Amino acid sequence: MKAIHIDRFVSNVTDLKPSTIPNPFSKSSQDIHIKITHAAVTHVDLLYAQGLHQNNRRHVQPPFILGTEYAGVVTHSPPSSSFPPGTRVFGGGLGAYAEQICVSEPTIRRVPSQWTNAEACAVGASGAVSYGALISVAQLKAGETVVVLGASGGLGVVAVQIAKAVGARVIAVVGGKEKAEVVRGVGADEVVDYRQEGWEARVKALGNGGEGVDVVYDGIGAVESGIRCLRYRGRLVVVGFAARGGKMENLKVNKILLKGVAVFGYRFGEDSRRDPQRTKDVWDGFMNLVEDGKIRPVIYKEDYWGLEAVSRALEDVRERKAWGRAVIRVCEVEEDTTEQKARL
Ligand SMILES: NC(=O)c1ccc[n+]([C@@H]2O[C@H](COP(=O)([O-])OP(=O)(O)OC[C@H]3O[C@@H](n4cnc5c(N)ncnc54)[C@H](OP(=O)(O)O)[C@@H]3O)[C@@H](O)[C@H]2O)c1
Repeated sequence: MKAIHIDRFVSNVTDLKPSTIPNPFSKSSQDIHIKITHAAVTHVDLLYAQGLHQNNRRHVQPPFILGTEYAGVVTHSPPSSSFPPGTRVFGGGLGAYAEQICVSEPTIRRVPSQWTNAEACAVGASGAVSYGALISVAQLKAGETVVVLGASGGLGVVAVQIAKAVGARVIAVVGGKEKAEVVRGVGADEVVDYRQEGWEARVKALGNGGEGVDVVYDGIGAVESGIRCLRYRGRLVVVGFAARGGKMENLKVNKILLKGVAVFGYRFGEDSRRDPQRTKDVWDGFMNLVEDGKIRPVIYKEDYWGLEAVSRALEDVRERKAWGRAVIRVCEVEEDTTEQKARL
């Protein structure tokens, strides 16, 4: 099969090209084989390709197949599986930039009937990550005001919708007019552009009559700015460092004390390894919102056809052209039933 195979980390993602490698094989008789139809392009993939993610120290070392989120169609599964051949599924795990993947059942979910495979792929695990951070960790409640930093990105556009779905007021922080339109389109009540000087003061002014916001969702690595936006005894959850280019922030901890704020970290993968029940609850909570029609996938407008397009898509994410999720169309789907084809 064709795949983006990493035998050594690259410094330039435009160097990535598909190569032909052996098809994936079952490690257990319970494994499920999937033909991948779509793969998402995430910030994590960008870091994995370059060896810049914390997981590259231990869990993710070459050789590996790049790509962490996909959707596809089951081609082979054990008779006991709840995903018989032909089932449309989406999942997370290394190996998404390939024509096929072989995985264990708990890592995949059925594509909700109202979504295409591309849409399921665009949401992928981002929904569960954002739900876990906002609801399980930061305990966001109806009537509170939350600011989402990195609101136009893959995680951010879902965070905005989750916060709206639980009855919070949402301030989205983005860079640029096109991205402002995107977050307004998914329900943000207020939009602030971080390119304008004094944006933190603008956010603070919008929360609790000028006292500041109740919760900060930080997907970019701007804790000091986030604390400036918070009210006294507010909560901030650190989700990612998309703006830091690998250089971590040095925070003066007196900022935490002076405002009496709580700063949490949330690491979805590690939480899943250490506390699978909590992650299951997070997924269930998020999928309830999906079933209630509260989550609309946001796919970046550019068409990325075939695994050859992975490098261009990663570069567009690196250059911050993309919003929502860039999605690769991995294959043309011909052999499925009319109903499935209509949803792919
Ligand atoms: N905690 C976890 O378990 C977990 C799981 C998955 C991912 N993550 C992390 O979460 C972060 C977001 O991932 P993603 O896939 O959603 O990324 P993404 O789709 O690439 O979005 C990144 C966002 O960051 C914003 N951004 C980038 N540089 C910025 C800057 N200098 N100033 C302000 N905003 C900036 C972009 O906004 P503009 O384009 O508007 O500038 C964009 O909205 C990443 O750091 C990723 O590693 C964490």
